[in-house]
Amino acid sequence: MNHFDQAFLGEHREMEARLEGLEELAGGGHWDKAAEIVARQKAHLVHHIDVEERIVYPAFETVADDEGRRTLAFLRKRHQELPVFFDELADAVAAHDHQDVQDTLQTLLRIVADHHATEERDVFPLFEPESRLQAVGERAASELEGAV
Ligand SMILES: [Fe+2]
Ligand SMILES: [Fe+2]
Repeated sequence: MNHFDQAFLGEHREMEARLEGLEELAGGGHWDKAAEIVARQKAHLVHHIDVEERIVYPAFETVADDEGRRTLAFLRKRHQELPVFFDELADAVAAHDHQDVQDTLQTLLRIVADHHATEERDVFPLFEPESRLQAVGERAASELEGAV
């Protein structure tokens, strides 16, 4: 797997797996562990979004057509919403409310999976090796790995 995929797809899969694992933790009453995972994944999410907004999306925007710009607007809107869903999830975990955790997780998982699929289908291919924005992709991957 190349550097860009390792960094970005790696975090996408990790995020999906961690969220999927939360259901069982909450069901088993492991609230402290669940709270720790929600806090850690939110920190990862905030950093991931920051790198995409500062480096990946602006570079994509310079080469995007109308449809690409519409996709980008939609993805940016999701970047505003996703941290809010994490806060709701953290509240549900803090309240030890299993039903609320389940409901919030279901919505969050759907939005996260769709967001990742759209990025991976419409945006990321331009940053792969031998592609137009390869150099930017390298820099973004290094930044992503640089913190949190
Ligand atoms: Fe994103
Ligand atoms: Fe992403």
